[in-house]
Amino acid sequence: MITLELLKRYNVPVPRYTSYPTVPSWKEKISVASWEKIFKEQFEIENNNKGISLYIHLPFCESLCTYCGCNKKITTNHNVEEEYLQCILKEWNLYLQLIETKPVIKELHLGGGTPTFFSPANLQALLSGIFEDATIHPQHDFSFEGHPNNTTVDHLSTLYNNGFRRVSFGVQDNNAAVQKIINRIQPFENVQRATDNARKLGYVSVNFDLIYGLPLQTLKSIEETILQTISLQPDRVAFYSYAHVPWTSKGKRLFDENDLPAADLKMQLYQKGKQLFTDHGYSDIGMDHFALPNDDLYAAWKQGLLHRNFMGYTTQNTNMLIGLGVSAISDAGIAYAQNHKTLHNYYQSIYNNELPVVKGYFLNDEDVAFKKYILDISCKGKTNFKSQHLDLLMQYSFPELINLEKDGLVKWNLKELTVTETGRNFIRNICKAFDLHMLRNETKAEQLFSKAI
Ligand SMILES: C[S@@+](CC[C@H](N)C(=O)[O-])C[C@H]1O[C@@H](n2cnc3c(N)ncnc32)[C@H](O)[C@@H]1O
Ligand code: SF4
Repeated sequence: MITLELLKRYNVPVPRYTSYPTVPSWKEKISVASWEKIFKEQFEIENNNKGISLYIHLPFCESLCTYCGCNKKITTNHNVEEEYLQCILKEWNLYLQLIETKPVIKELHLGGGTPTFFSPANLQALLSGIFEDATIHPQHDFSFEGHPNNTTVDHLSTLYNNGFRRVSFGVQDNNAAVQKIINRIQPFENVQRATDNARKLGYVSVNFDLIYGLPLQTLKSIEETILQTISLQPDRVAFYSYAHVPWTSKGKRLFDENDLPAADLKMQLYQKGKQLFTDHGYSDIGMDHFALPNDDLYAAWKQGLLHRNFMGYTTQNTNMLIGLGVSAISDAGIAYAQNHKTLHNYYQSIYNNELPVVKGYFLNDEDVAFKKYILDISCKGKTNFKSQHLDLLMQYSFPELINLEKDGLVKWNLKELTVTETGRNFIRNICKAFDLHMLRNETKAEQLFSKAI
């Protein structure tokens, strides 16, 4: 049973653990040569036939949603498309030269920004260029983020013809007053139309992103948004906690802290949403995600086959992720690298024929071991402890587990840990018990992460 008291107690700043160590622990500057070396070595070890994941960041948006915490560039000038896509293909070629073999692409995600800012013809040119020197895995999983206001049938069919079967629509909130104050006017008909069009074309999984904790949201308004959402039966829903990012786009914002739901109301908004989803056949598969039983993420969760990377939860077990584009992150299993966050610096590296990586982290043995504990907990809800880590576990993790167990979130002994049904709502807090960087105060959570709820 999740009580308001429990929600309050665990509503502390915690990472979403799409990586471990988390980004604030990374080095501000890594050398390109060292990243190339480690990436190449890992690529050979991981046996490329298994397939890699590819993430392409497409940063442009036509207008600014003032709550947005993503890396984006606002412009109505569509002439920017071609130069950007040419640079993505150059970056891809730099990776191809490095690995000296044809990669097998198993997972591909176009994220943003707004991928559907780009014309269908330009997206086709991008994908043709990417696929030219790659093999597509027979069990591939290709997805993209679409803005309901500008995802056309042409976008959907172009991507479908390139193997895309999953789409994620940014819905956020359907209430007119909320939409106005966050500067995202998006009539529900647009969401409905985009969803219908995707289904008619044969997309098998439609995801909606919703946010709770936005300015002016009330229990009534969120109920209406969620019931409308459920009427369209998205296969998955990401129900995100609004992360207030006061340092971005402040000048253009129509709201301030006073318009945000107070902490208690925010928790009630979450509880209301969770209740409505579960009452209507959705399962909470952990860390903000709900899915219908027909969804493959749900099936993977049930079978203990979920995985997690920078794109969030996935059914694909690839150990190498190449992130292309401004701010994109790559993961070589034992090392992470993030690209330049400004277009200017990104373009400069590409025109210098250099991989645009700047920030990153190379894991030591201890990081690798604790990364596995965190992944096990977030994907399977259980983990087994290795005897060689007992000293570290006793010093850092077990004292945390004692409290988590008292609150009914985990069951554990010296050999293993299992997350309870209630604990599923607090996965981020449970993972934190294995985050040695945070427990040693090497990462300053308050300044860098949003609260759990
Ligand atoms: C990278 S955005 C891309 C989606 C697409 N651009 C759109 O808006 O339709 C992915 C998702 O992040 C979520 N998001 C963005 N800013 C957020 C914030 N400050 N707090 C919580 N979630 C946020 C939104 O739900 C959004 O759909
Ligand atoms: S929420 Fe999506 S469309 Fe809005 S500014 Fe952010 S990335 Fe762009």
